[in-house]
Amino acid sequence: MKNSRAVSAALAVTASCAMLLLTACGQSGEGGSKETEDKEDLTIGIAMPTKSSERWIADGRNMTEALKKAGYRSTLQYGEDDPDQQVSQIENMITQGVDALVVAAINGEALSNVLQQAADADIPVISYDRLILGSPHVDYYASFDNEKVGELQATYIVDKLGLKDGSEKGPFNIELFAGSNDDNNTKYFFNGAMKVLKPHLDKGQLVVRSGQTALNQVTTLRWDGGTAQKRMDDLLTSTYSKARVDAVLSPYDGISIGILSALKSDDYGSAAKPLPIVTGQDAEVASVKSIIAGEQTQTVYKDTRALAKVAADMVAAVLGDEKPEINDDKTYDNGEKVVPAYLLDPVSVDKSNYREVLVDSGYIDAGELK
Ligand code: GAL
Repeated sequence: MKNSRAVSAALAVTASCAMLLLTACGQSGEGGSKETEDKEDLTIGIAMPTKSSERWIADGRNMTEALKKAGYRSTLQYGEDDPDQQVSQIENMITQGVDALVVAAINGEALSNVLQQAADADIPVISYDRLILGSPHVDYYASFDNEKVGELQATYIVDKLGLKDGSEKGPFNIELFAGSNDDNNTKYFFNGAMKVLKPHLDKGQLVVRSGQTALNQVTTLRWDGGTAQKRMDDLLTSTYSKARVDAVLSPYDGISIGILSALKSDDYGSAAKPLPIVTGQDAEVASVKSIIAGEQTQTVYKDTRALAKVAADMVAAVLGDEKPEINDDKTYDNGEKVVPAYLLDPVSVDKSNYREVLVDSGYIDAGELK
């Protein structure tokens, strides 16, 4: 496998040199010559979605470090939330002759053609955090238990409102937000949350006054905080001029910050009008600070260092013609195949455990939270 990959990639490099007259072609360096089979001569292409969020910056850094530890070189690109840009970045990596790809997709359905090119050059592909859809050329998937993320967010709301264990409390008003509709994770987070909320919605203990309960009514394109802020503003104006919102299901910290801005502009946060419960995900520093300040209520911590290690181990296994460790071979059907996955465990974090979970583990420096 490695030899044929080296030959295909060398052909691709030769072709691209001829076509593009790249003066750097054939020199050693990132994405350069692959005449030897030594690990340190192998370069892994990492495609990340955006630098606008702290978590993906950390993912890029962690992934580069994990691959370096495993003995590989790497080249890292961010697609700035533009699916076309990500496609051309991956195309360039293939042309440069990378030996494997690790991709966190912007639009999970936009990569079929470029993955075909990767397959033609015998380059294995690891789908990172977000599943790539509609392509048979996704070798493995490294992620978290995405449905559990949603369950943790909704369970937090249910517990905080005192609705568990058959309690008859309520009704409480809740509004629902979901992530980007082109990210495969979105529906897993939402469905996981709805599984927990539904019995309480059915009993009338939780009420979505806007009536917006279907996934396609509550998504937030590209997970954008400003878009979420605008929707929360609109909901407060249209639906909550008299009533008060008690909880907001938010799938991601950047969205939570937008929701909180809208709430604060509507005078939430005073003794007379306390902020609702607002969930989140990623344990980003701004949100952890907000939790400490008593604004955002909860987040879901996903250790991106561990995720990078899983993805780097997958790369090492496939390049060594071995099978990587997986713990799920059922859940992630991408429309072409069920992609074998390793799923890590997410952890619910609030004011009571952030220190132990985030600071003591070294994920966030205590100084950053001041
Ligand atoms: C998802 C990811 C979340 C969050 C979100 C927005 O795909 O699983 O952890 O980062 O994107 O970036």
